Amino acid sequence: MNFELPVLAPSILAADFTQLGNDIKDTLKGGVSWIHCDIMDGHFVPNISYGPSIVQAAKKAAPEAFMDVHLMIENPDDYVENFVEAGADLISVHYETCPHLHRSIQNIKKYGLMASVVVNPATSLQNIEPILEDVDLVLIMSVNPGFGGQSFIESSYEKLRQLAEMREEKELGFLIEVDGGVNLKNIEKVVEAGADVLVAGSSVFRAENITARVEELHSKIR
Ligand code: DX5
Ligand code: ZN
Repeated sequence: MNFELPVLAPSILAADFTQLGNDIKDTLKGGVSWIHCDIMDGHFVPNISYGPSIVQAAKKAAPEAFMDVHLMIENPDDYVENFVEAGADLISVHYETCPHLHRSIQNIKKYGLMASVVVNPATSLQNIEPILEDVDLVLIMSVNPGFGGQSFIESSYEKLRQLAEMREEKELGFLIEVDGGVNLKNIEKVVEAGADVLVAGSSVFRAENITARVEELHSKIR
């Protein structure tokens, strides 16, 4: 998959679920090609969101879109196949939920998907250094996972810069994704700090006009 970077990745967590398909199609009209799906189990994070059937529905609404599935769940290895079958193109697992992270990443890649590791705000990048050469993407949480609509944690900028430096030093090619609190005000600074993929939930789906908001966000990063 090659994308024009940076890429905007609307998180459907913030969509109007009474008209999920239309909301997704409105983002496509604005040029979106990457959809972010937040899966929450009420154990790893204090919220329950949705499962594979919603990912499948999103894929049906946007068959051409790249489906990025963010597993905020305990024992993610047990659910990878369900999300592969639902149409995922990439699966992200949290460092904090994978005691055998190398095996978890291999378990995603064996299905031919892109594999990604996620770090929470208080997890240091040194923890994932050994796995960087095996992942296709690193997802930096810029909010504490579990809810949309939170404020961007300022220390995430430095974390983004550090990760971009690590990638350069090691001459690796993984993408850097940032997730949580990204909006019209900070999106340019987030890209400057090194993000390639920008998750935006409420900033996109809570807008009066979703398509216009996507175009506005795109105008700031392209
Ligand atoms: C939070 C999710 C984020 C969130 C982003 O746990 O991982 O993707 O939905 O939503 P906003 O952009 O509203 O912070
Ligand atoms: Zn997410």
